[in-house]
Amino acid sequence: MKYMTASEIRNAYLQFFQSKGHTIVPSSPVVPEDDPTLLFTNAGMNQFKNCYLGIEKREYTRATTSQKCIRAGGKHNDLDNVGYTARHHTFFEMLGNFSFGDYFKQDAIPWAWEFLTKVLELPEDRLWVTVYVDDDEAYDIWNKEIGIPAERIVRIGDNKGGKYMSDNFWMMGDTGPCGPCSEIFFDRGPSVQGGPPGSKDEDGDRYLEIWNLVFTQFNRDASGKMNRLPHPNIDTGMGLERIASVIQNVPTNYDIDLFRNLMAAAKAAVEKAGATDVEPGTPSLKVIADHIRACSFAIADGVLPGNEGRAYVLRRICRRAIRHGYKLGARAPFFYTLVEPLAREMGDVYPELNKPNIAQVIKAEEERFFLTLANGMEILEDAIAKTTNGVLDGNVVFKLHDTFGFPADLTADVCREKGIKVDTDAFDRSMEEQRAKARAAGKFKIAAGLVYNGPTNEFRGYQELRTEGCRVLAIYKDGTDVTSAEAGDDAVLVFDKTPCYAEMGGQVGDQGVAENASTIAQILDTMTIKASVFGHSCHIHEGSVHIGDIFSVSVNAERRAAIARNHSVTHLMHKALRTVCGAHVAQKGSLVTPEITRFDFTHDHPVTAEQIAEVEQLVNEEILANVPTKTEEMSVEDAKKTGATMLFGEKYGKEVRVVSIGSSKELCGGTHVARTGDIGSFKIISEAGISAGVRRIEAVTGMNVLHVLQQKTALVSELQQNFRGVKESELPEKVSACIEQIHSLEKEVASLQAKIAASASSDIAENAREVNGVKVVAVSVDGADANALREMADKLRDKLHSAVVVLATKDGAKLQLCAGVTPDLVKKGLKAGELVKFVAAQVGGKGGGKPDFAMAGGSDAEALPKALESVYGWVGERA
Ligand code: ALA
Repeated sequence: MKYMTASEIRNAYLQFFQSKGHTIVPSSPVVPEDDPTLLFTNAGMNQFKNCYLGIEKREYTRATTSQKCIRAGGKHNDLDNVGYTARHHTFFEMLGNFSFGDYFKQDAIPWAWEFLTKVLELPEDRLWVTVYVDDDEAYDIWNKEIGIPAERIVRIGDNKGGKYMSDNFWMMGDTGPCGPCSEIFFDRGPSVQGGPPGSKDEDGDRYLEIWNLVFTQFNRDASGKMNRLPHPNIDTGMGLERIASVIQNVPTNYDIDLFRNLMAAAKAAVEKAGATDVEPGTPSLKVIADHIRACSFAIADGVLPGNEGRAYVLRRICRRAIRHGYKLGARAPFFYTLVEPLAREMGDVYPELNKPNIAQVIKAEEERFFLTLANGMEILEDAIAKTTNGVLDGNVVFKLHDTFGFPADLTADVCREKGIKVDTDAFDRSMEEQRAKARAAGKFKIAAGLVYNGPTNEFRGYQELRTEGCRVLAIYKDGTDVTSAEAGDDAVLVFDKTPCYAEMGGQVGDQGVAENASTIAQILDTMTIKASVFGHSCHIHEGSVHIGDIFSVSVNAERRAAIARNHSVTHLMHKALRTVCGAHVAQKGSLVTPEITRFDFTHDHPVTAEQIAEVEQLVNEEILANVPTKTEEMSVEDAKKTGATMLFGEKYGKEVRVVSIGSSKELCGGTHVARTGDIGSFKIISEAGISAGVRRIEAVTGMNVLHVLQQKTALVSELQQNFRGVKESELPEKVSACIEQIHSLEKEVASLQAKIAASASSDIAENAREVNGVKVVAVSVDGADANALREMADKLRDKLHSAVVVLATKDGAKLQLCAGVTPDLVKKGLKAGELVKFVAAQVGGKGGGKPDFAMAGGSDAEALPKALESVYGWVGERA
């Protein structure tokens, strides 16, 4: 076994299968295109689904890829294992070779074996295989043709509770192409715990599954019925990180070359954010290093964190990483800083990692979540410390989730680590109660658990940012009402009046401070407890708070101004989208934070670059016009008459607020800028589909536009430097010229190769020997690769009209063989597949193929001359 880097393994794999006639196809995005059955791309075969089903035909019937995969949700979900096992990832690269009705088991198995034992040089006696219980054909190929002894071939049946529910039957999801499979295992030796596949100790780490060969023959439909596919196919998958760990002989995937720098960067990042002396290789660092890959690749391919579907899975992964950083001691955003080291590691193979918005999106998510985390963790740890029976009260989980926005799955994750069970029944009951209350209360979000029967509050935040004389009406600690709270406490305060805006209509709640002569409480968030009752989630820094106390309450003005810029611009953008894309555009959701505005709307197609530019133009024109904005209160009927945009299905009260910003007019309760010019400027930073017929745009305003531009400028300068200082305006031309040059060089290489092949083949043709009237050529050619061999063999067949051709070449330490037979001789029973097998067997190799053309490998160069000589005899016996 020789040392190879992950990148060398990736290349060797693709080249090996290219030499077997496969087309190297680029990885598809991690978000499956046009496949609603899949959350994320979970296997190499996904992009070829329709080729398997026979719906799509491509130029090739053999393909090989290194595919970006995410297994964190849906049928194949490894999220909870990441960090705690040596091998699991949310994101990983899968090497695969695929046949669409072309070759089948007979070739797939020997090739897999050849790649493992000859290219990667894994010792044969360390390899075990499994086959589906009644797959005698695969069993015989492994046993009789490859020569694996019966004691290292394991038959596995339906061990997962139903027909075809088996470790040796692979399905991509609940529906789609599937079939029995054969897995290859590597035995790491007796020093590692664990038993062979199929034994009761199979979960140990000793026998490592490294490659799965699927014999795809069925399409499972929604009813569970297995429909036979028009032709049998091959789909294989080998995790790059895992095979690299075997080749590099390291204990876990996180110790391979590809992860080493990332693990070090993760350690440095959490330490910079406040952690001290983090132990290298600790599980939380693994979680972080793994998750930055999943998050960055998902964002690069267009997913943004959100509350549904893949957006939610992304948010979960992101939050899980942040939480592990927090666990190590990080107290400030750190996760987003890992995008850069990741791009350094993998950006050459996956240039999409260089997109500037990846770090921005993660940072925004991180800043928001850090606050939640700090509050929630303290409460949770307290509650865990108080449990006596090892079970956490479901009501605590609920309260964390509901009052502090601390997700239940995170609570479960923390508890799992500490060996604490969660009383899920109590949690489910509380959730259901809350849902019932929420339904009863219409659209108002209830901060459940907070029972409030006092008067409604006055919101003063439209007119002022500081309100004097605010009287405390209620105080809640841990979800129950109390009469006072002390310094160090977290509490929810209700005042008779407040300038703080409570989260509503997508606009996040205000932050600020409540203070009087003896007390300072920091307001971390403001939320609606029930209609016109506002809860201020506070941390009390100094003094104490009692019912009846009087406070000055002020809003963090800078933050509010940033929120207002983003909210006002949302109205202008909504209007411009309707102008540019059509009147069908309707708001489906929105989030307005100090950093961004995120706007979801109905539209069937991606918004084009031209449309985005037009929307940006229209909105910026309105900003520059710098007209005052206006709000008016009126009845719903009057509002309708003004033509203001109303959200379909939304219930409005009798009196509504009509907000006019530039040419837009919308019903809205949010806080806005005084003049459109206050927005400063506007730039869209991303556009993506989030579900069928719904698009999501994210945009920035004010100084954030400047930051985006600065990043882009830096990117351009870097490109200029790479191109040795060309002028910016000449960059596109330079890049096109480069691409053209590459194409023309590729053509030149191909034509040179063809010339070399042609001239070599004329020489060779002259040396053809006649055996029983058949022209036979069996020679070794220097300096050719597999493709050149193939080409030469073709040329020789053409030139000699009727001939048997065997060519060999030395490619490093390996031998490549190819055999070609003209059709007239194939008819006489001279088969290239058999011939190449016969020759390969003499040089320590295996191979096969079709009757007119076949390829093989080999390793014993010394035996080559004799093996080539034997071709004449072989033909003599048959011709
Ligand atoms: N599609 C198969 C797998 O993912 C190869 O295991």
